[in-house]
Parts: sequence; C-alpha cells; structure tokens
Amino acid sequence: MNTPVSAEELLALKAAYLVPCVYHFYKRPPVMVAGEGAYLIDSEGRRYLDCYSGVTVTSAGHGNPEIVDAAINQLRRLQHTTTIYLTEPMFRLAERLATIAPGSLDRTFFCASGSEANEAAILLATLATGRRGVIALTDSLHGRTKWAMSATGLPMWRTDAFPLDDVRFAPHPFCACCPVGASFPTCDYACVARMDACIREMGPENIAAIIAEPIQGNGGIIVPPDGYWRRVRELCDRHAILLIFDEVQTAMNRTGRWFASEHWDVVPDIVTMAKALGNGFPVAAVIATSAVAQAYTRPGAATFGANPVACAAALAAIAYHERERLGERARRLGAILRDGLDQLALRCPCLTRVRGKGLMIAADVVDESGAADPVRCDAVLERLKDDGFLVGKTGRGRNTLTFMPPLIIEEADVGRLLDALDAAINRR
Ligand SMILES: Cc1ncc(COP(=O)(O)O)c(C=O)c1O
Repeated sequence: MNTPVSAEELLALKAAYLVPCVYHFYKRPPVMVAGEGAYLIDSEGRRYLDCYSGVTVTSAGHGNPEIVDAAINQLRRLQHTTTIYLTEPMFRLAERLATIAPGSLDRTFFCASGSEANEAAILLATLATGRRGVIALTDSLHGRTKWAMSATGLPMWRTDAFPLDDVRFAPHPFCACCPVGASFPTCDYACVARMDACIREMGPENIAAIIAEPIQGNGGIIVPPDGYWRRVRELCDRHAILLIFDEVQTAMNRTGRWFASEHWDVVPDIVTMAKALGNGFPVAAVIATSAVAQAYTRPGAATFGANPVACAAALAAIAYHERERLGERARRLGAILRDGLDQLALRCPCLTRVRGKGLMIAADVVDESGAADPVRCDAVLERLKDDGFLVGKTGRGRNTLTFMPPLIIEEADVGRLLDALDAAINRR
C-alpha cells in the first residue's frame, strides 16, 4: 500500500512552489483524498461531515453518481471544442437555465468561474447603458478580476492596489450590526437612502449598474430586511440603472430557492451563477434579459465557457436538484439547524446573531464584551475539524462560523453537528 502523503510534505511544496496568497484553513490541516455524499475523507481514512461544501459548490453531494456519470459519458464522447463549434450541452443548458431563472432572464453567456461571470456581467451592463459607473455594497466579494475586485468591498479580498475608480460603495444591509448606526424598521431603510445619495453624488447618468449578492456570503451571511431589495429595485428603475445580482454562492437552492432573489420577488436585469451549478465542474453563467443581452453583439468567447463536460454535469445537477427537491430540503433542514443554533446561543453568550436562509447559515463568535473573537472562532473550527466536522469561516472580523453543507445532508447529521459545536464551544 502507498504511504499516505503527509500535510507536512504538501506544505513544503506549497512553500516552495505556490504564490503565497494561496492559504488554507487550520493549524493542522488534513489532506483530503476522497469525497462521498456529505463527507470528505482524509489521507489517513478519517471521515469529516463537510459543512462548507467547498464553499457551497458540492450542493448535490461529493461524487454524486448521476452527475459523475453524465460527465464521464460526455468526457468519453467529446471533451472540448470551444464555442466556435456547435455542441448540444451548451444550448440545452442555456434552455434549462431560462426555465429556472427568475422573470424574463433568458439569455446566457457561459464562462468558467464566478469572477469571470461578474466581470462579464459588468461589461454587459456598460454596453447596455453606455455608462461606466458601478455601485457595490460594503463587505461584498465579487472576485479576482479587475471589475470584480474593484467592486469587492471586503478589505481582505480587495487586494488590488489600483482598483477602478468607477466604483462607489453603499452601506450593506446588516440590521443586527447596522453600518449607518440606525435600527430597523424605524430607519425606513436608511441604507437605501445612503445608496440613493451615492447615486446622486456620482450622477445617475454615469452609472451602469448596482451589483450585489442578494445575501452576502463572504461578508458573513448578511440577509437584508424584507423590503430592502424592492427599494433598491425601485431606485434602479427610477434612474435607469441595471441591477446585477451576484448569485455565485446563493443560486442552486442554497437558500431554499433556485435563486435567493426569489425570497423577495425581485428580478434583476442580470444574474450570475457559478459554484454549485456544476457541482464541482467549473461552469459559470451570466443570465440577462433579452433587452440587455442585445447590447453584446461583438464577438465574445471564453475558451472554457460552455465546456461540454461541465455543461453535461450542470444539466445533471439541475435534474438532480429538481427530482430530489433540494430547495425544499434546504428550507426544512436549515430551519432545524437555525433553531438548534438559536438554542445554543441562548446557553453560550460567545455565540450570537444566528442568521441565514435555507442551508446558508451563520453565527458570530464574540468575546465577553461582544467584540469579534476570531481567535476563539479559529479554535472552535480546529476542534470541530478534529472531531470530524468541517465548518466555514466568513465575515469582516473573520469570526463568523458559516454552515453551508451539501443540501443532501441528513437530519441526523444536523443533530450531530449541533452536538459537536456545543462541545467545541464549551471546551476550553
Ligand atoms: C459571491 C461571490 N462572487 C464571486 C466569487 C468569485 O468566484 P470564483 O472564485 O469562482 O471566481 C465568489 C467566490 O467565493 C463569491 O462568493
């Protein structure tokens, strides 16, 4: 039998050959070698309940046999051509996306990652409006490419020292910790008023789009109050500004609906999705209304966009989500997880602000004074990992425990996770 590779060996390779920006969770990181349903397995055969899904990618489970078979069948027939030749999976996927996307969003451009999708969405908005300005939200994350990073408000992910100065930030809608110091509902959406002021300052005639995650992911699972997106939609309509929803994390039933925007019945002009679309195969989509899409007529192609294998996987993933009713499952199990976290927070003052929708759930770890406690958060994550549970970490203060398990997770697993968290938080 081969000796399993050690974390030390891989960390030495990392130090020698990777750009240092590539970082990993944990002081003692395991080496993952296999995935099975809701579980990851390390090189020593230990099993972990994966409660982060590779950042909300493997929503239909690791190694989902239907998705893997669809990809392998396509891989055997035809692996790659680019869009200069006709291949069926791309058109079938675009047709399918038009049926699940909200409203009249029915024109798709394919690429390979969330960053690329947001970059293309902003390009499309500038083409459709003839304007160059963009409004984004504080604590947002839209990716690593130029526009996407320029519109990223989270300091940790805003690495570019020379971001585009056509982007302005409006305060994000986090009522539990309001960035404008107001309180909902008496504030009457003070954050939207700030956004309006931001638009007037820039001049609406200069603004192509507002880009936002309907529920911020890396910002710490920020769910806006009901009515917020309707107000933002009205602002966009008043000023003929396009609304781009970045649903790279939230699409594909993560929040209990195909798209998170459905919770508020607000339809954007452009939506982007990636991550769970291919359940681990790299495929991303920008979906726009026909009216907006018409502006992009000059040749546009992404070499790996609409790769037939990734599209076949995405078609199988959508079929699986639909047949297994993963949206419903996310809502049901998410409610159980939230309820358990609420109860735990009552007993443990260091756990607070339980929030989220569907199976996109978070809670903050704080110290005795209520301030962010990233050190304790890391200790809890490390203990959970040692006990066989992988949980995510987000938020500006890096103190937000983030739960985004595969949507196929069992109810008993949710119970085990809550017990493990209880033990990890209370162990000193
Ligand atoms: C909301 C959101 N948008 C965009 C991205 C960038 O996606 P990618 O890493 O596929 O480029 C991410 C990545 O985490 C994300 O969470």
